[in-house]
Amino acid sequence: MYSGQVKKVLISENDIQSKIKEIAAEINKEYAGKQPILIGILKGAFVFLADLSRELTVPHSVDFMDVSSYGEDVKTSGIVKIEKDIDRSVAGEDVILVDDIIDTGLTMTYISDYLQNHKPASVRICSLLSKPSRRVVEVKSDFLGFEIPDEFVIGYGLGHKGLYRNLKYIAILDEKYY
Ligand code: PRP
Repeated sequence: MYSGQVKKVLISENDIQSKIKEIAAEINKEYAGKQPILIGILKGAFVFLADLSRELTVPHSVDFMDVSSYGEDVKTSGIVKIEKDIDRSVAGEDVILVDDIIDTGLTMTYISDYLQNHKPASVRICSLLSKPSRRVVEVKSDFLGFEIPDEFVIGYGLGHKGLYRNLKYIAILDEKYY
């Protein structure tokens, strides 16, 4: 699959799955007695959220949001358009935002601020990956898998030109396929 397109495996399937178990254990502990709602940010979050959800023993519901950028300016302005909103209000609920990667931090910041309009009981952030060197706005990642260098990564939900999301590991894409 995608023969020759992977330059290097950065995080193996085993390492991802062990980390998800650790994150799930933290969430299970911190949300004991509660019933949080996991909100995945499409599309990248779908694989991580599916695995994380199934490792959780705390009862929880799941929803998704999808956002897109307005033109080329998103990486500097942080202005995004909501393509799919949550299905119902999260007023009074404990929200866990789930994404595959935090890069500039603008997406998570925007969504987290937007959800405050619903007056949730709490909003916390869970991301499998983070590229701290790319940060434009500070984001407090409450549950984080791995910090990675500023490489072009694919797999485990992360795509490029629509492909690679189904890889079970995180890899660096060969430059020829950018
Ligand atoms: C990626 C990723 C995050 C966002 C992070 O999504 O899934 O949602 O970018 O970037 P930021 O921290 O710089 O805002 P992308 O826009 O590539 O869409 P996708 O999830 O549909 O692949």
